[in-house]
Amino acid sequence: MIVTIDGPAGAGKSTVARLLAERLGFRFLDTGAMYRAVAVAALRRELSRDDAAAWADLARRVEIRFEDHRILLDGEDVSDAIRASHVTAHVRYAADNPQVREHLVQLQQAIGRTGDMVTEGRDQGTVVFPHAECKIFLTASPAERARRRVDDLRQRGEAPEFAAVLAEQIARDERDANRSVGPLVKAPDAIEVVTDGLSLDDVVHRLAALATARKGSAT
Ligand code: DC
Repeated sequence: MIVTIDGPAGAGKSTVARLLAERLGFRFLDTGAMYRAVAVAALRRELSRDDAAAWADLARRVEIRFEDHRILLDGEDVSDAIRASHVTAHVRYAADNPQVREHLVQLQQAIGRTGDMVTEGRDQGTVVFPHAECKIFLTASPAERARRRVDDLRQRGEAPEFAAVLAEQIARDERDANRSVGPLVKAPDAIEVVTDGLSLDDVVHRLAALATARKGSAT
């Protein structure tokens, strides 16, 4: 069974998806981490951000895989490196590149064929797993999402300004919604869950109930 969780940046998808996967005994796939890993590889090689062909070629050449919730880029654990602000600022050159997307979508579908999985991103229920048994669209208000991002960055030792984080988030929302390939849209058959005012445990509990009900009706 595939459970997809799509939604905007800062909606809490990664944490929720990871805990949901644990609760259901499913594997967990963080597809944003894959776009981030491509950006890390490109930044390290100092590829020009405008050289779409070089980014696509690199995406196909590097090895990206997950092991024990860590992401490995050519065997190196880059789980922390992919979260740095300068990677966040450049990840769009991977995410907006149709050839990079095509390759990563294939990888995601191959991982999905290996068993039950909770997968999160922007296009999981629409493009990557259109036949998923359970689709969630997870969101929260812009201010709530920016607050969470500020907390997250502080925990990583950065000193973000709320206004700057909010402005950057609005720009990312805009890009996510308007990307020509794999834009963030709610699948018609996705269930929308707004997480403002809900604890993490509430959200995971609600999603687990939805997934279990779908599983019951699918068998
Ligand atoms: O969820 P995140 O912030 O880790 O995602 C990183 C970037 O990748 C973000 O700009 C959105 C993009 N992304 C995407 O285009 N498609 C996905 N399935 C996942 C992420």
